[in-house]
Amino acid sequence: MKARVVLGLGSSLGDRSGALRRAVAALRVAPGVRLLGCSRIYQTAPEGGARQGFHNAALLVETQRSPRGLLGELQALERRLGRRPSARWCDRALDIDILVWEGLKRQGDALHLPHRRLGARAFALVPAAEVAPTLRVPGLGRPLGDLPRPPGPQPVAIGLLGPRSGDLAGRGRRRYEGGPLAERAPMKFFLDTANLDEIRKACSWGIIDGVTTNPSLIAKEGRDFVATIAEICDIVKGPVSAETVSTDAEGMIREGKLLARISEHVVVKVPFCKEGMTATKALADAGIDVNVTLCFSAAQALVAAKAGAAYISPFVGRLDDIGHDGVALIEEIVQIYSNYPALGTQVLAASIRTPTHVINVAKAGSDVATIPFKVVDQLFHHPLTVSGSAAFLKDWSTVPDPDITGAVTRWLEKNGR
Ligand code: E4P
Repeated sequence: MKARVVLGLGSSLGDRSGALRRAVAALRVAPGVRLLGCSRIYQTAPEGGARQGFHNAALLVETQRSPRGLLGELQALERRLGRRPSARWCDRALDIDILVWEGLKRQGDALHLPHRRLGARAFALVPAAEVAPTLRVPGLGRPLGDLPRPPGPQPVAIGLLGPRSGDLAGRGRRRYEGGPLAERAPMKFFLDTANLDEIRKACSWGIIDGVTTNPSLIAKEGRDFVATIAEICDIVKGPVSAETVSTDAEGMIREGKLLARISEHVVVKVPFCKEGMTATKALADAGIDVNVTLCFSAAQALVAAKAGAAYISPFVGRLDDIGHDGVALIEEIVQIYSNYPALGTQVLAASIRTPTHVINVAKAGSDVATIPFKVVDQLFHHPLTVSGSAAFLKDWSTVPDPDITGAVTRWLEKNGR
């Protein structure tokens, strides 16, 4: 189900307008999101702990993602573009809020819709009303353009951010994706394990975006299933697939809805079958992201996307095992989905066995590869890196002052920096 959504962007650190533009560029290629228009960039005087004023803007997007799925995508984007955890009102490189979701009222700590403080913040409301003046705000029964402006300092328009809503009207996604900003979102790395030590270790390397589990991986750990999923979510703070085991749609829907309550990061995994597609549609309609697993053909991938899957998991290694070409299946599905961006389903290459699989599914344009810990570890290794590092350190030990910390600190102090 498509919905129009208004996003609020803000930045108060460094190149503030640049941060907003980079966010727009990334959102243009985010899976399942279509940019409909941008407001102008506004400047607002500093508040609270912020040192310089915020630059703010609002975007109107159309999405098939669930509210939680879109929130997760935006949080990952904030992290990629430099946001670090900070107190409210403090300086931040990039803040992206979901302000209004067409037709949806929602309560929750992580995501409250419409945004709790929309009506009280001129820096959010003014750009939002500019980009989507006729969008009705659920619960208020009035369009954004008719809401009264809150008192206090008003934001001032200082420049253009990107195409305005009118500029984009009636154009297809492909038409406005051209130009230097058009790039694909980089392939995400999920870890294919339920082992907490492996997850902690790989997450400390800064390259893991999510985790997939399945009943076999959970059973291998011999721990409590629910506690394991909850802990993985706490560590990863990204999509974590937890699989249903019922064989009928009703059971899958019941289990999926319960699993989704463990954490906002849970993605419900459902096996590909007719009952699974009924469950996928029902869960997606309830705003829950679904990963359809055990996919072995392009036809199955197309069916799952039509049912509203957020992810499709084609099993590369298991196809190779029976003499088929797993990577060729990824290529085929990527091609089909790119013909119809409105499907919004991400290709999650699963059953990855080697670094070569990772490289080949990246070449094919997979959105995600879910990789066992051993293979992630193997991605780091190259004998020339090892011998090269040893040679650099050996040579460095011959310089007069090899203590970098001491030498740089003394130089900085001497030069007043
Ligand atoms: C992940 O989602 C899949 O369940 C997993 O990648 C399957 O991998 P395997 O074929 O190595 O068991």
